[in-house]
Amino acid sequence: MPRELVLILDFGSQYTQLIARRVRELGVYSEVIPGNTPIAAIRAKKPSALILGGSPASGYRVAAPVPDLEIYELGKPLLGICYGFQVTQHLMGGALAKAERAEYGTATFVRDGNAKLFRGLPRRFRAWMSHGDEVQSLGPEWRRTAHTGNATFAAAEHTRRPYHLIQFHPEVVHSPYGTQVLKNFLFGIAGLEGGWSMKSFVRRAIADIRETVGDGHILCGLSGGVDSTVVATLCHRAVGARLACVLVDHGLLREREAEDVALELGARRGLNVTVVDARERFLAALAGVADPEQKRKIIGREFIAVFEEEAKKLGAIEFLAQGTLYPDVIESASTGWGAQVIKTHHNVGGLPERMKLKLVEPVRTLFKDEVRALGRELGLPEHLVGRHPFPGPGLAVRTLGAVERHDLEILRRADAIFIEELRRGKWYDRTWQAFAVLLPIHSVGVKGDERSYEKVIALRAVSSSDGMTADWTRLPASLLARAASRIANEVRGVNRVVFDCTSKPPATIEWE
Ligand code: XMP
Repeated sequence: MPRELVLILDFGSQYTQLIARRVRELGVYSEVIPGNTPIAAIRAKKPSALILGGSPASGYRVAAPVPDLEIYELGKPLLGICYGFQVTQHLMGGALAKAERAEYGTATFVRDGNAKLFRGLPRRFRAWMSHGDEVQSLGPEWRRTAHTGNATFAAAEHTRRPYHLIQFHPEVVHSPYGTQVLKNFLFGIAGLEGGWSMKSFVRRAIADIRETVGDGHILCGLSGGVDSTVVATLCHRAVGARLACVLVDHGLLREREAEDVALELGARRGLNVTVVDARERFLAALAGVADPEQKRKIIGREFIAVFEEEAKKLGAIEFLAQGTLYPDVIESASTGWGAQVIKTHHNVGGLPERMKLKLVEPVRTLFKDEVRALGRELGLPEHLVGRHPFPGPGLAVRTLGAVERHDLEILRRADAIFIEELRRGKWYDRTWQAFAVLLPIHSVGVKGDERSYEKVIALRAVSSSDGMTADWTRLPASLLARAASRIANEVRGVNRVVFDCTSKPPATIEWE
């Protein structure tokens, strides 16, 4: 595999991560770094090419984020997108001003000349713009390569260096030629070879883990979720029997979740998995507590305590493997220029310091869907790899009010029926998350000849790309009808099922 790296400078646009994904999809490894990273740090990474992303800021205002000027002296191929275009012109002698008419949405670009970046594109093409500023004149040694009806300078290139600037966003689906433009940049202009794939990732990740850990031992907490399952499998490939996994069954997992993971990783793959049955302990600690934040705190505290006790039994361990993902890394290093902060949830927060463990985070450069692809590459079965995200505090945030043993049983069954129907209807993979919630109320019903006074289940199904915003999934009425009828008939103690059709915002995904 060629050692190729594209650095994406982040100025706070919501699309920056999307650029990183598109570049990786084209087979070139990419990383996002803060837009003002000093040149020494950029040089140290030995990038093959740079991409400057968009920003909610304005290039001509003093407060706008600015890249280190010396990036323009590197001579590495450079692509400036939207704000990346504007700030480059601002720094290199062009003029920038507030556009008379802001442009949002698709615009028709007309090519001027024969820019390499637009090879294979028609003379006029449509692409997606979102900007309120515009470049009014180009700096010396720059020439125009496209314009639109509103913007005199909609793309430009340097006359001597491999620097290309575009006002549109090639990374969004609304730019039909966007992928071609990125390909032209990566392969035509930067001369990269590509070839980055999950296979090569696995090879490098295993080598990295071995180098970090040496002869040491790794502990990995399994949650039942995709990330920890994949991380454990990867670490096992790297260090074999020197990996110990602990799955704390706090009684708040989905139906058959603990058994599934223990079976797949333990019995089938030979990982050393300890399932700790802490169900009673968690129920006791949660008894009578209705406040959601309190419930979260108790679960976090108990979780750490149980995990620590188990780890002690395992003897000398120096490393803790965690399923930290790339969005968490980017956000925690966030430059604060408008990118939304994703809520990060660390189920074992504080543990590494307390137990003096060093961290192994082998998927910290991957996005969620890439972790799934990695899981498939490692041969994990689809029902584990494709599993919906699940909150750390588990079903405790889905049974409203105090957590009761019997309620958890009701909820688990109702949830399993809903998921079964989603799978049967081929909707499971088309939703980001779907689950049942047990409401702390009773309503009147009639079963047989008798009136009943029983619990209410709410069903939630949402579409989302990162959990930050979400829309409710338009499930077919027939699917909802089947799920509702089955739940009300098969789950004892439930006589009514409702469907949540609110988006986030203003609602959240979980009910808490
Ligand atoms: P909300 O309810 O805030 O949830 O819209 C957004 C996403 O985050 C998940 N979530 C959690 N995940 N630990 C986690 O690992 C948690 O404590 C937690 N709380 C919420 C939620 O399921 C949704 O995907």
